[in-house]
Amino acid sequence: MSQNQETLSNLLQETRRFAPPAELAADANVTAAAYDEAAADRLGFWERQADRLTWAKRWDQTLDWSNPPFAKWFIGGELNVAYNCVDRHVEAGRGAKVAFHWEGEPEGDTRTISYAELQSQVNKAANALLELGVRKGDRVAIYMPMIPELPISMLACARIGATHSVVFGGFSSEALRTRIDDAQAKLVITADGGYRRGKPSALKPTVDEAVAQTPSVENVLVVRRTGQETADTDRDVWWHDVVDRQSDQHTAEPMDSEHPLYILYTSGTTGKPKGILHTTGGYLTQVAYTHHAVFDLKPETDVYWCSADIGWVTGHSYIVYGPLANGATSVMYEGTPDTPHRGRWWEIIEKYKVSIFYTAPTAIRTFMKWGDDIPAQHDLSSLRVLGSVGEPINPEAYVWYREHIGANKTPVVDTWWQTETGAIMISPLPGVTSGKPGAAMKPLPGIVADVVDDQAQSVPNGGGGFLVLPEPWPSMLRTIWGDDERYVKTYWSRFDGLYFAGDGAKKDDDGDIWLLGRVDDVMLVSGHNISTTEVESALVSHPKVAESAVVGATDPVTGQAIVAFVIPRGSAGEEVEGEDFLKELRDHVSKTLGPIAKPRQIMIVPELPKTRSGKIMRRLLRDVAENRSIGDVTTLADSTVMDLISEKLPSAK
Ligand code: WT7
Repeated sequence: MSQNQETLSNLLQETRRFAPPAELAADANVTAAAYDEAAADRLGFWERQADRLTWAKRWDQTLDWSNPPFAKWFIGGELNVAYNCVDRHVEAGRGAKVAFHWEGEPEGDTRTISYAELQSQVNKAANALLELGVRKGDRVAIYMPMIPELPISMLACARIGATHSVVFGGFSSEALRTRIDDAQAKLVITADGGYRRGKPSALKPTVDEAVAQTPSVENVLVVRRTGQETADTDRDVWWHDVVDRQSDQHTAEPMDSEHPLYILYTSGTTGKPKGILHTTGGYLTQVAYTHHAVFDLKPETDVYWCSADIGWVTGHSYIVYGPLANGATSVMYEGTPDTPHRGRWWEIIEKYKVSIFYTAPTAIRTFMKWGDDIPAQHDLSSLRVLGSVGEPINPEAYVWYREHIGANKTPVVDTWWQTETGAIMISPLPGVTSGKPGAAMKPLPGIVADVVDDQAQSVPNGGGGFLVLPEPWPSMLRTIWGDDERYVKTYWSRFDGLYFAGDGAKKDDDGDIWLLGRVDDVMLVSGHNISTTEVESALVSHPKVAESAVVGATDPVTGQAIVAFVIPRGSAGEEVEGEDFLKELRDHVSKTLGPIAKPRQIMIVPELPKTRSGKIMRRLLRDVAENRSIGDVTTLADSTVMDLISEKLPSAK
């Protein structure tokens, strides 16, 4: 693999490097010395990061790796996550500081929540959970829109030691049911609905359908958000009836460092969803440290916004636990980016003077498609650090993000991690790293990562292969809920003693790491391994292309052939229809990556099939490319997308 990767990558056109702004570098939270400090004594380094937290009882041992791959961190230590995220800031005299500037989707619908108010709300919710019979160790499923009661519910669970399982509010009743069942949740917290795309969108009927078949659920606690009609059953209790009347006093009980904090299900491509288990001390240590280091957070002056949904791990770690542990002021937004207009996000940044912004490449490419003029109408000068997560960021999207959102001055941190890793693992440091568009760069201080070949040998610089994590890290998943064997098999059996993340990667000549997408998505064309990510990036680097997805389709001559799906940019006009345009694109890829990467076929489409978390479902596009009937579309964010694509392409049915 390595040699072919090398010939391809050396032809990539974007070679600019972006050094940190001098001012940011001079005052950065973390400097280059952190790499040496952590390399000299990795466990000592993590002990110092654990000291950012307030422990009720100090640990006796930093890491127990005597029974790999089952890790324990900060053994014997005790702390309460909610106390660390809320109370300690109030006790330190920062109660009046804003924790969340919450912005509902309907314009003008806002709430400002200080740390003191958050404390009183979390305490009331914790007392309500206790009244409903929830105890330490019980599981609570949370199925909610992006409203303040969502983080409040999570923190209330953490406060009493109940393990939460947040299920993304866009999932079906069947998906919710299997997750409730697997975790044996005793309580479900939900809302009548939330606002999406300008109108109320009901949640409660989905919960009703799910809990009709989940015997473990004793109560459903319902927040009134939209005022929609709901069918009341005797299981249901209203938040305003039960929570509002509780005492706002509650003493947080310290939990063991390894106490289960939450389960979060990842779907994966096959099999039943995996309940990724995260625990207390190590998790909070790494989310707090990485949020401090990667975003250079200055809690006194920064306003931070992560646009993810809390239903994904990004929201758990970088809307709720990391920022609150660090005493940050955050923005939290309920709705979609185009409601009521396509400048809504930029309006929010301008309104709250957001200084750190964290989003996903899929969103960035959507904004590129909508046009440069939209962000240009807003004052975004408060921004000083931009982050990206979720998939490899195409160099073109990186440069656009830096230029049109970051005024050509903000560092862009491309953060690689997973639900399983719990926190950021590979990322630039904004005050240290000279960023390369498209590269996640280096493992963070205290993290060890490598790229290996299929014999588990570390590849030299310039080589490509599989991304692995050879050493345990504090926020790593502890197991798959209820299935230790599946945990070992899924992550630790491909390469002996190495955690295999499922991603392809390469090291460039400087040893910096580039992610190449899931290994299942690598194409084999005439004996050459070609990454879907690289061909997609080459297409997106054409000025008339907004987004693209690439798949390998069976080909009698080359084994697999490259088939690309392309969405033209809004500004590209009429010329994108004809054969000339398709030829122009194929030649562009050939020029950028080499003739071997030239797509056999390019199809112009209006949309791409994506999961609700924004990942392209290449499986469905492969069905189109191979002229098969299209497979299961139930996990698509918008199930009509495949019809739109089929209409456009008469051969695809
Ligand atoms: C997979 C994990 C981590 C929170 C969001 C997704 C891909 C994530 C990057 C990045 C390249 C990335 C990987 C990874 N991914 N961030 N910066 N560069 N790829 O969490 O749903 O668990 O997905 O997302 O393929 O394995 P997730």
